[in-house]
Amino acid sequence: MLIDNGLEKVVAAETRLSHVDGLAGELIIGGYRLDELVADRTFEEVAGLLLASYADTPADIRSAIGKARARVFTRTSNLLPQLADMPLFDAMRTALSTLPDGNDINAALDLVAAPGTLLAQLIRQSSGKKLIDPDPALGHAEDMLCMAGLNTSAEAIAGLNTYLISVIDHGLNASTFTARVVASTDAGLVSSVTAALGALKGPLHGGAPGPVLDMLDAVGTPDNARAWIDNELAAGRRLMGFGHRIYRVRDPRADALKSALNGLRSDRLELAAAVEREALAALAIHKPERKLETNVEYYTAVLLEALGFPRDTFTAVFASGRTAGWVAHALEQAATGRLIRPQSHYTGPLPQRAA
Ligand SMILES: CC(C)(COP(=O)(O)OP(=O)(O)OC[C@H]1O[C@@H](n2cnc3c(N)ncnc32)[C@H](O)[C@@H]1OP(=O)(O)O)[C@@H](O)C(=O)NCCC(=O)NCCS
Repeated sequence: MLIDNGLEKVVAAETRLSHVDGLAGELIIGGYRLDELVADRTFEEVAGLLLASYADTPADIRSAIGKARARVFTRTSNLLPQLADMPLFDAMRTALSTLPDGNDINAALDLVAAPGTLLAQLIRQSSGKKLIDPDPALGHAEDMLCMAGLNTSAEAIAGLNTYLISVIDHGLNASTFTARVVASTDAGLVSSVTAALGALKGPLHGGAPGPVLDMLDAVGTPDNARAWIDNELAAGRRLMGFGHRIYRVRDPRADALKSALNGLRSDRLELAAAVEREALAALAIHKPERKLETNVEYYTAVLLEALGFPRDTFTAVFASGRTAGWVAHALEQAATGRLIRPQSHYTGPLPQRAA
């Protein structure tokens, strides 16, 4: 029996949705390279592209997702005050899990709209401000910024749109696999997405960008970078925002996000570039046999901070993009009609045989 604890060598699904080429550093989503998509598509268009393989998507996807934001707001706004004591990500997951479960297009659209809507309302609530109703006529990125009360300049809207597209889907990562496992039991899309949110939260997956900023805070100034990094590596700690299970070259999303910072004010950019340079040099010496390059979370942290999102909301912003991918994967898995049920190898004690 072959045992592969991290399932690295296991191909557990066929997908039309996205392809990650870890050696070439290329990400293909729905037949397009990431750089083509971020150049001239909206988040809603790319979400529609993914869903269209497995659902009857409405012709006007922007307006359909806008109406879904309004539905989610109506269903959840009374619940949010009861979740005020929870960490924001957990409150978002809890509110999302109350949406009606199902496998139809309305459940799919509500889920695509839900994390961005809930996140924005929870940001308002946590700072004691009045909630702002969604505006279904706006694009999703613009309305997320409006509802959260953040900067809605053209550069900020474009920056968030680029971010949401960059993280929308990424092969069979841990949270997408989780969504597919739940979908394979025919539990429904809301259950799949709720489970995927749990998987995303961990610092080895979607929880890394907050700690990236903690790292930049701790480094403080560019000339302190190398000593700080060497000390961390010598202590056996990992540098957040570096390394990836699949990529052996630079994550293409890191470049898309770095470009999205053009035109946005960020006090971090110079420090971030210096720390990145020193980290890559130090990692090459520390782990010469393993190529450890910049991953998506590094510039996510710098971009989301420049957009005004509080540090503890970064994983929820990630979910606001990735949910469209989870929903499409859940529909794709459900279409196979095959339950995912691997085997385990028992290493516990055996029962005593009767004499
Ligand atoms: C993303 C990540 C979990 C991928 O890990 P993985 O494919 O399971 O790789 P492994 O955990 O097997 O690591 C291989 C080796 O590289 C080292 N390594 C991996 N990422 C590292 C990092 N960011 N900093 C320092 N060392 C790192 C490991 O310590 C390990 O060394 P060892 O063989 O001496 O034990 C890992 O690179 C990581 O923890 N990165 C930091 C967190 C992060 O940025 N997460 C966001 C991912 S998008």
